[in-house]
Amino acid sequence: MIQFDREHQVFKIDTPHTSYVMGVVSGKYLSHIYYGNYIKTCDMGYLLDLGTDFLQEASLDEGEKVTLLDRLPFEYSFAGIGDFRQSCLEVVSSEGQRGVELVYDSYEMISGKPELTGLPAAFGGGAETLKITLKDPALKLRVVLSYSVFADSDALMRSCQVINDGTEDVFLERVLSACLDLGEGDYETIALHGSWARERHMERQAAGYGTYLVESKRGISSHQSHPFLALVSPDCTQEHGEVYAMNFVYSGNFFASAEKNQFGAFRMAMGIHPDGFCWKLAAGESFQAPEAVIVYSDAGLDKMTHIFHDLYRDHLIRQQWVYKRRPVLINNWEATYFDFDHKKLLAIAKEAADNGIEMLVMDDGWFGKRDRDDSSLGDWTVNETKLGDSLESLVSQVNALGVKFGIWFEPEMISPDSSLYREHPDWALQIQGREGSQARNQYVLDFSRPDVVEYIYQSVAAVLRSANIEYIKWDMNRPLTDAASAYLTKEQQGEVFHRHVLAVYALQERLLAEFPGLLLENCTSGGGRFDPGMLYYSPQIWCSDDTDAIERLTIQEGTALLYPLSTIGAHVSDCPNHTVGRVTPFATRAAVAMAGTFGYELDITKISQEDRAQIAAQVKTYQENIDLIQQGDYYRIASYQKNKRYDCYEVVSKDRKKAVVVFVQVLAEANMHGHILRLKGLNPEGRYRINGKCFSGDALMQAGLLVKRPWGDFQAEVITLMEEE
Ligand code: GLA
Repeated sequence: MIQFDREHQVFKIDTPHTSYVMGVVSGKYLSHIYYGNYIKTCDMGYLLDLGTDFLQEASLDEGEKVTLLDRLPFEYSFAGIGDFRQSCLEVVSSEGQRGVELVYDSYEMISGKPELTGLPAAFGGGAETLKITLKDPALKLRVVLSYSVFADSDALMRSCQVINDGTEDVFLERVLSACLDLGEGDYETIALHGSWARERHMERQAAGYGTYLVESKRGISSHQSHPFLALVSPDCTQEHGEVYAMNFVYSGNFFASAEKNQFGAFRMAMGIHPDGFCWKLAAGESFQAPEAVIVYSDAGLDKMTHIFHDLYRDHLIRQQWVYKRRPVLINNWEATYFDFDHKKLLAIAKEAADNGIEMLVMDDGWFGKRDRDDSSLGDWTVNETKLGDSLESLVSQVNALGVKFGIWFEPEMISPDSSLYREHPDWALQIQGREGSQARNQYVLDFSRPDVVEYIYQSVAAVLRSANIEYIKWDMNRPLTDAASAYLTKEQQGEVFHRHVLAVYALQERLLAEFPGLLLENCTSGGGRFDPGMLYYSPQIWCSDDTDAIERLTIQEGTALLYPLSTIGAHVSDCPNHTVGRVTPFATRAAVAMAGTFGYELDITKISQEDRAQIAAQVKTYQENIDLIQQGDYYRIASYQKNKRYDCYEVVSKDRKKAVVVFVQVLAEANMHGHILRLKGLNPEGRYRINGKCFSGDALMQAGLLVKRPWGDFQAEVITLMEEE
């Protein structure tokens, strides 16, 4: 529900359990008042009384304007005229002068949630939106802040649009999507950092004076950092304490900051990274900033996780896919790398079919003359000589085995050794007079060019039209550098990064429109673009190139902090693991891959008979639990990242009748008692059957479940709980 108290000029946005309150100070500045647990009354304008302690030295008196602007908690901060904290908006006028001042103008309440043109955003029924217009009369700029909530969610969605109502061009050098001025407090930050094959490791640290920044300037949301930032109370645990979290529905350069100012007050901010960004906004044009999702929890990280998971399942992932059983797939990358032909693929498909696997994915190496990673990106024609067959014939033979067929593309790239590059060297991003920097022997295509995007669309669509292809793995294997375009004007070069992201979104949208049944799995050298923006197009994302069961515990813990298990691409691979060389039991690899969209990535025709014999039962266990895993509430019970010994998570069905607990003992220890796992989310009155024995829900949650220590390192146990009728 959204309310406006006209007398006190206060807006209040309620979700089922939270309230978000802001007000207009002396008819001029839109100021933040409160965000936290639900409050009935709207009358909180007294918190912005300029006579109060907090603001006593400031006033609207022009003689102390800077003093006021530098301490007022703003809803959308602006740079250049007195607020020295992180700003949301920085504008340069046609005269090259920097400075913007946003003054409250009007508001509008809308039933529903308008789309953000060209951008992914939460959608669905039961929404309400508040639009607040701020204006800069000198620049003739209008800024429309947008706040949306859904009746069934405690998340708040924010974005903003900047409109040039003047007659001159202006240049937007920073347009963040949201800030949150929390006031004085004691907080710690939680962020997800990483690297290739080590994505989304959680890090928590005290938040001191100054600015803590989480950012990507790589053109992708990145392996290295993640578009998420939380401020938590120092006593915050999985179950207790306060959390203020922001997650960005965007897949490119981002900026997320937590700043403690001179008064000990905190400001969080999130948006497109201002570095390398400058958007020319011509007279009459508008710029739409992406959406930021804001979540408050008064009961620790589990509650925050549930709010994100439910929001993404119910309002971000396409409903056609979100609860649909995804096929258990086998991917040939770690099985064959570039060395395969139709016979090899058919042999894998045959063995896969015999073991209940439902889809074969043909990974990199099927096009152009690509036998290594140094050629052919851009030449999306099937290499029939290498395959020894046409694609259509191969797909029909795979389908005849009862197996679906999927294929790999890397549409945003161009190899210097490709017909495409020889024909169109100017289609790669490059700085005039400078040789472009290669990564994985490739350049990035200039997606600000409509001809490039059209060519790529037609290339990908032609392959899809030629055979019964039901899945695409959309890969992206290098960051953007040399971000200059021969197509854009001099004044638009700062638009390259954002235009790239917009073009990727438009391409994926167009593909899904032409091929509505297509299952898309995004991938970026593993999990380099695992973000809510990509989730809007693909219900699952390859989580990491690191398929080692033990490394995956930490990666998947960080990923599941925000994203439902149904989105996390997880496969059983061969050992010694190709990334770290570790040998883990086949059963453990399957138990860990169950926390995601289960699949295999190994040569099923070559692995030991002992391992192969387990596959059919593993697939069956996954299929028996797939509804629970896709739809249930996820709880973190123990974290290997923290205790360095064992890991445990639990998923409980919404009706609390069924649960699955996955426990992994990483290192065995001598002469120790069994583990007590205090379960969560069960019915305290209920009785649950585990391995033929019955336990009360209350006891399992309060006293815990006793798990005997397994013999040996890297041992896993999958425990299912069924409530007795
Ligand atoms: C990336 C992906 C891998 C695989 C290779 C193919 O690294 O993450 O899964 O598809 O590309 O080149």
